[in-house]
Amino acid sequence: MAQPAAAPASAARVGPALVDWHRQSGRHDLPWQQNRTPYRVWISEIMLQQTQVSTVIPYFDRFMARFADARSLADAPIDEVLHLWTGLGYYARARNLHRAAQQVRDDHGGELPRDFDALHALPGIGRSTAGAILSLAAGQRHPILDGNVKRVLARVFGIDADLAERETEKQMWMLAEACTPIESVDVYTQAVMDLGATVCTRAKPVCLLCPLQSLCAANATGRQAELPRPKRRAAKAERRHKRVYMLAAVDDAGAVWLERRPERGIWGGLWCLPEFENTEQAQAFVVATLAPADAVALEPLDPVQHAFTHFDLEILPLRLDCARAAGNAIMEPGRTLWYNPRDLDAANGRIGLPAPVKTLLETLQGMPR
Ligand code: ADE
Ligand code: SF4
Repeated sequence: MAQPAAAPASAARVGPALVDWHRQSGRHDLPWQQNRTPYRVWISEIMLQQTQVSTVIPYFDRFMARFADARSLADAPIDEVLHLWTGLGYYARARNLHRAAQQVRDDHGGELPRDFDALHALPGIGRSTAGAILSLAAGQRHPILDGNVKRVLARVFGIDADLAERETEKQMWMLAEACTPIESVDVYTQAVMDLGATVCTRAKPVCLLCPLQSLCAANATGRQAELPRPKRRAAKAERRHKRVYMLAAVDDAGAVWLERRPERGIWGGLWCLPEFENTEQAQAFVVATLAPADAVALEPLDPVQHAFTHFDLEILPLRLDCARAAGNAIMEPGRTLWYNPRDLDAANGRIGLPAPVKTLLETLQGMPR
């Protein structure tokens, strides 16, 4: 058996270099950097996981205005939480936040635990996120290793291995641990994430401006473009295209028939127009469910495009003018809803909608009947 590799001596220089860099040229005016409680840092870290800082800022501010602490989040209906998440994507994050807040309320007296294992045990809080929250909000020394940090470390230490492999993952955590300084760990944590997001970017890292330039193996050997090794799958993955028909059934008051999507899968827990593979299916649904008296006339509206990480979705909306009564009869509480787009921003209309569906509802609202 090979001995576990020790961290190279240069690891000890990474922390101080990043701390100095961040003190001199880092951002210090972001909303979650003010009043840094574990709750606020938690919400910001979850929002920032798949989303850029500039996008997150208004979402974070609205979220804090509505849910100032874990208790108010826990007590809110999931629809309100998803409403405030509309457009941010990766909605499992919001459902996990809500469930975690309820555990915090029920098991931790409403305060986010400051114990690493207790925090890590909450839904949606992985090892790196738990470490980030406790270092940023409580000054505890824990390593972090998100996607940005992995890229920085793979380049600095010249790790030419498949990052998805267990052994590599172990090695990366060992390096992350070795780089984490004793002093100013909160500054370091923010610095290493910011370096990955702004300087050591995937394409075209700006090595000339990098505080780690003199320590960096990739820079010394000109291998920035090869490290980290691209994921095997991603290299040949082809972008998929998917097409769905969506039925926009509008009643005489302008309300639209929505269905709640299952928790699992895309847009889990959000309210959506009914989806079909073809117009015949849509017709059959209308006859069976909404049963308009006259012949069913579905009017095609302009297609709406939506890009997901792994595929493009084309939505072909079909509009139907109908009476409400029939649909009401079979409404299953909590799963279907006549929703008036006029309520999009009103208190009684606070539900989670996929961004393209919200756009569609706004379009419908502006259309004559
Ligand atoms: N990505 C995840 N957490 C982040 C943070 N705190 N700052 C910038 N990017 C991040
Ligand atoms: Fe990344 Fe370049 Fe800095 Fe190395 S020198 S850590 S490749 S930005």
